[in-house]
Amino acid sequence: MPTAFITGGAGAIGSASARALARDGWRVVLADIDGDELKRVAADIGDAVAGTFVLDATDFDAVDSAIEKAAATNGWLQGLVTAAGGLRHIPGAKGAPFTETSPESWDALIEVHLNAVYYACHAALPVFYRQETAAIVNIASGAGLRGGPPHIRQRNASVYSATKAGVIALTQSLAQEAASHGVRVNAVAPGRVESRTKSWDEMERMRREEGDVRLPPLGRFGRAAEVGDAVAFLMSDRAAYITGACIDVSGGSRLH
Ligand SMILES: NC(=O)c1ccc[n+]([C@@H]2O[C@H](COP(=O)([O-])OP(=O)(O)OC[C@H]3O[C@@H](n4cnc5c(N)ncnc54)[C@H](O)[C@@H]3O)[C@@H](O)[C@H]2O)c1
Repeated sequence: MPTAFITGGAGAIGSASARALARDGWRVVLADIDGDELKRVAADIGDAVAGTFVLDATDFDAVDSAIEKAAATNGWLQGLVTAAGGLRHIPGAKGAPFTETSPESWDALIEVHLNAVYYACHAALPVFYRQETAAIVNIASGAGLRGGPPHIRQRNASVYSATKAGVIALTQSLAQEAASHGVRVNAVAPGRVESRTKSWDEMERMRREEGDVRLPPLGRFGRAAEVGDAVAFLMSDRAAYITGACIDVSGGSRLH
């Protein structure tokens, strides 16, 4: 049974990815900074959970040692999903015009949304190279595909967009480097989906306030489980000929 390490494993997309992978026969190791929520999610997922780590994904050494430990404990590790993030801990990080952002908010966003992806990939790839088979899925965002979407979708997200474009470019570059080692590296770019800080009810309220103009062509916002399904597909052998891709899971938002 293959095992995947998931950062942000207690989050909406991290836990949805874990559930989708568990359904496909994977074991999952969940890592998150929020120990209480991690415990709750792990209990809910049940037997497929092969370990949990309460850690800060922006701590290079902590991530490195957790991934080494997870690989040693489980015999080997075949997957990595980088889903730590969210803007809850970063005041003023999003929603501010560029000229009102601060170097501090820039650094904080880069740290959690880009550096944390670098740290996890940096820790996992040597393990994966030893095995000569594995897959990585990085969680990017539609914001990284569009450089800050037009007014009908998302405003004042310049810094966030830069981090996510960085994730997509890193994914493409790593895909080329890791291919000869039997490792595939892909990304998923969600549109607006429910999260721990943005419940489905909250999104419905936003839709009523904003009107349908912000809805994607499919006419609704997304479920975290729908992102998890794309992650599980990219991790599976059904995606054996896919690397360096970024799947847009946004109900077609990118077409607006
Ligand atoms: N929800 C959306 O609409 C949406 C859209 C596009 C992209 N994304 C991206 O998806 C990823 C996951 O977001 P989500 O929607 O699941 O949010 P979420 O808030 O539900 O989950 C994020 C998880 O990451 C954890 N986390 C935050 N900082 C951490 C750190 N330093 N170390 C370890 N864990 C940390 C949080 O505790 C939380 O459990 C993020 O990178 C986000 O930018 C989300």
